[in-house]
Amino acid sequence: MTTGSENELFLYSGGKFERYWARIWSGTRTSLLLALIVSVSDCVLGITVGVLWGYVRKLNNILTEVYNILDNIPRTIILILISYLLRPGMTTKDIDRIGEKTIRKLGGVPNFLHYNGYPASVCVSVNEEVVHGIPTDKRFIEEGDLVSLDTGLIYKGYHSDAARSYVVGQGDPEKVKLVEATKEAFFRGIAAATDGGHLHDIGIAIADYIEPLGYGIVEDLVGHGIGRHLHEDPEVPNFRQRSRGIRLRKGMTLAVEPMINLGNWQVDFMDDDWTVVTRDRKPSAHYENTILITDGAPEILSLPGGLRS
Ligand code: MF3
Ligand code: CO
Repeated sequence: MTTGSENELFLYSGGKFERYWARIWSGTRTSLLLALIVSVSDCVLGITVGVLWGYVRKLNNILTEVYNILDNIPRTIILILISYLLRPGMTTKDIDRIGEKTIRKLGGVPNFLHYNGYPASVCVSVNEEVVHGIPTDKRFIEEGDLVSLDTGLIYKGYHSDAARSYVVGQGDPEKVKLVEATKEAFFRGIAAATDGGHLHDIGIAIADYIEPLGYGIVEDLVGHGIGRHLHEDPEVPNFRQRSRGIRLRKGMTLAVEPMINLGNWQVDFMDDDWTVVTRDRKPSAHYENTILITDGAPEILSLPGGLRS
């Protein structure tokens, strides 16, 4: 039996009970809602972090690549860059200015400038000029010119040296063929340069390729060792020698630089004390890279990875 007051009490406590549960339920609901919000936001956060992480990693990869490129500054990127800018109407001095500025922008120091008194950072040799042409404001590049560019720089204490020849615009097919053969001569030459081989194998490989084409191989100038100095031992001839030359060892760094004439091999030295020209005044081409001797194929230090240009 319940008395009114008991009943009241019961009802009252029942109400309390209900309210109690209602409170717990609403608390739980809030907690569940919170848990849901948290887990959804966690999920969103997780996805966001994941996506961001992906971006960071991608960015990191890109940066690593950029740093790799920057770290390999003694590379011919400078010559490739100039080759895109080569135009009739520019002067050989313009080319030198662009070259020097690019070298310095990349954190290098031009190593030709003031070398034995040489007055520029890039040698620009046009047509019959073989190498060491001195840039000037008076010499304008013309359509069809065969332009040889030679430049180098010091980076982190080490020298690099590289050269390329280009025919500007529409040129004589003879010149184009000469330029291509000179480049190929370089690659034939270095294919013979491996640890344990002999230095003069390089010149033999170049001569084996060039002689049947009827071109002249310049003998008055040669390639060279390179490292802490621009020109180091040994000399690297581009032609046949009687001796086998020194043994090549991995770790050696050489500048291999065939200079190939359309006509015969002979050259003259001009009165400016630098410019070398072909004696028959026919065009000449030059191709050079700084290479590292390894167990296998040499590494081309002056060429951006994978390129063959
Ligand atoms: N590649 C050229 C050579 O080995 C570099 C000449 S540097 C110069 O002869 F300053 F002499 F031009
Ligand atoms: Co050189």
